[in-house]
Amino acid sequence: MSVERTLAIIKPDAIAKGVAGQIVTRIENAGFKILAAKLIRMSHEDAAGFYVVHKARPFYRSLCTFMTQGPCLPMVLEGDNVIQRWRELMGATDPAKAAPGTIRRDFAASIEANAVHGSDSLESAAFEIPYFFASLELCPR
Ligand code: CMP
Repeated sequence: MSVERTLAIIKPDAIAKGVAGQIVTRIENAGFKILAAKLIRMSHEDAAGFYVVHKARPFYRSLCTFMTQGPCLPMVLEGDNVIQRWRELMGATDPAKAAPGTIRRDFAASIEANAVHGSDSLESAAFEIPYFFASLELCPR
């Protein structure tokens, strides 16, 4: 086990549904530390830069539009093996394929509007965390 950090986002669909609190409770119940969190409204440019790795995918433009439709809540989570464990808590990208009890199964509407995001590797986290947060905004404890 190694202590890792990951970038989590509660996406605009979940904020609009009013389930952000329930998602944060699941994060706390899992024992992850929330080192930073802020409610922001991304511009199309912000979303395009964040998801640049998906630039060639057919859903890229629509995904960027979806991410700008309302506020979202990026967070930095810390814990043992948190990258993999947060992904397990989220469930599969497509909520129709997500296991019972996962966040996406319980709260997501579609493969695009899928409630939450999580970094998929240490390398992704190293890009994604500073995309949203300056080091002085992280509160280790
Ligand atoms: P996320 O974990 O944020 O990573 C990339 C996002 O692209 C993903 O969640 C979904 O919101 C979106 N996505 C992935 N695959 C598809 C798809 N086939 N169609 C539409 N959106 C997708």
